Amino acid sequence: MNYNNILTEKVDGIFTITINRPDKLNALNYETIQEIGMAVRFANDDDDVRGILLTGSGEKAFAAGADISEFAAFSRDEAEKLSRDGNRVFTSIEHSKKPVVAAINGFALGGGCELAMSCQIRVASETARFGQPEVNLGLTPGYAGTQRLVQLVGKGKALEFLMTADMIPAAEAHRLGLVNHVVPQAELIAKAKEILTKIGTKAPLAIAAVIRCVNSHFAFDEDGFETEIREFAGCFQSEDFKEGTQAFLEKRKANFKGA
Ligand code: COA
Repeated sequence: MNYNNILTEKVDGIFTITINRPDKLNALNYETIQEIGMAVRFANDDDDVRGILLTGSGEKAFAAGADISEFAAFSRDEAEKLSRDGNRVFTSIEHSKKPVVAAINGFALGGGCELAMSCQIRVASETARFGQPEVNLGLTPGYAGTQRLVQLVGKGKALEFLMTADMIPAAEAHRLGLVNHVVPQAELIAKAKEILTKIGTKAPLAIAAVIRCVNSHFAFDEDGFETEIREFAGCFQSEDFKEGTQAFLEKRKANFKGA
């Protein structure tokens, strides 16, 4: 697949997507977001892929937000389409059946912070900085920042973060629960790969089911407890469940096939 704004590579079952607009601090224009969506879909359909790593090129930015130059003259209808189509992609990442780990290598502002929040796990470099500066532009976030931030850090901290537009360092983001790990920049990709490699040794159908169960907690039309009961029971039909239990009883390492 040829893309204009992202780079992709597949190594040892890890599919890496790199946002590649470093001269614009990897700002997310419409096409970039759609390409990320396509790449995530492609990775989900590839049986050789166990996990997805999402990062930005260069050492300065993961993504410094939506591309302000693109939407500066938008009408209300154009803005709604931008937000709706972007939301669709971010939600598809949140519901990816394979884990997506964001390796945040610098600024994660506005849409960049929202993109990171749509991933299942976030690893930040010590130099990363986070913010939702939309109110500085006379805007609210448009890619579900108001929703996912509340889920990750709670209502009080989310409101302060969203209304002050403060830019916070990685250590503070870690303290708030916005990121899972903070590591030196040089170790960022290795740490993200380490997490994906570990998850990659588990049963893929069970991993997909865990993602569905956790997302179900936040779906207003679903009962997460019921989802978990259904997913738990569903696992019993899988070959991997037989392999996992058999391997335990035979005191050996399980060899999961994703079936
Ligand atoms: N949209 C479009 N272009 C952006 C951008 C964005 N969100 N963020 C950075 N850029 C561009 C700059 O316009 C500049 O382009 P130019 O060289 O053609 O002028 C280039 O990226 C480098 O950015 P610059 O501002 O010169 O870097 P800096 O180190 O001085 O400042 C930031 C870094 C992140 C503080 C600053 O770029 C910034 O505030 N960006 C906007 C953040 C934002 O509001 N995001 C939310 C959008 S809804």
